[in-house]
Amino acid sequence: MAFEKFNLSGKTALITGAAGLLGREHGAALLESGAQVVLTDVSESALKVAYTSLTKNCDATKIITKVIDVTNPQRVRVVADELKEDGFRIDILVNNAAIDPKVKGDQGVQETSRLENFPLDQWDLQVAVGLTGAFLCSQVFGSAMAKDGKGGMILNIASDLSVFSPDQRLYRKEGLPDDMQPVKPVTYSVIKAGLIGLTRYLATYWADKNVRCNALSPGGVFNGQGDEFVQRLSSLIPLGRMAQRDEYRAAVQFLCSDASSYMNGQNVVMDGGRSAW
Ligand SMILES: NC(=O)c1ccc[n+]([C@@H]2O[C@H](COP(=O)([O-])OP(=O)(O)OC[C@H]3O[C@@H](n4cnc5c(N)ncnc54)[C@H](O)[C@@H]3O)[C@@H](O)[C@H]2O)c1
Repeated sequence: MAFEKFNLSGKTALITGAAGLLGREHGAALLESGAQVVLTDVSESALKVAYTSLTKNCDATKIITKVIDVTNPQRVRVVADELKEDGFRIDILVNNAAIDPKVKGDQGVQETSRLENFPLDQWDLQVAVGLTGAFLCSQVFGSAMAKDGKGGMILNIASDLSVFSPDQRLYRKEGLPDDMQPVKPVTYSVIKAGLIGLTRYLATYWADKNVRCNALSPGGVFNGQGDEFVQRLSSLIPLGRMAQRDEYRAAVQFLCSDASSYMNGQNVVMDGGRSAW
């Protein structure tokens, strides 16, 4: 069978930040491949919405929801224990949670997205969610995958900004002085590049236990952003457009299944060709 290696029947996948825009897509992708899916997110209300929308297209017993704040190691362990007691082995971990700070440029006195003013508490919070959270979940779920000899797969959701720096011209606002121009914050680049380091580290660390680790680096997804921003960004992308939210599903299915059994430690960049220009 051509696609038998994509079959995830009998496997359980846990996704962090699963109630967000792409988290739900990862959930839909893995459900479509036959996996049992554990949707986790810090927001209980958003998880309920995600559950309701995903169960429209699948058997509701295929989806479990758990509130997890990925910055809280105790909570990660409690959920791991609960799932184990309920007979679920996590075969696939998708580290997807992140805080994506919106670049607005309407802050009045001081533009805090800029490096000169970037608040330390924001640095700490964003790194805690986007990078430390991936480490903590990998520590708990990856260790379990390595321990019982059955192996597993860890997928880190990075970004095209893991391979190049943000083009700050995208965020410029007419009429503002340079020192008030909003920018994509430094945290995003640091976290996403850090995830690639974590990916390579984990890929080699547990390779002899058959735990693979790869990263997926999406380009910007169209989600109703303003026309001017969309036009500016599209002009930097050879395909001439932003991604649709469902365009990463097939890559998630590939990377989380035996279809990618010889891929390990890689960063799959899906950016419409932006990094090729
Ligand atoms: N949307 C894009 O254009 C795009 C592009 C490239 C990469 N990405 C990456 O894809 C991933 C998902 O992005 P998205 O667009 O779906 O973002 P999103 O903001 O829609 O979803 C992120 C989710 O993470 C959750 N979250 C926040 N803090 C958390 C915490 N402490 N613990 C657990 N969950 C927490 C939020 O509640 C939210 O549901 C992120 O890693 C993002 O950086 C997104």
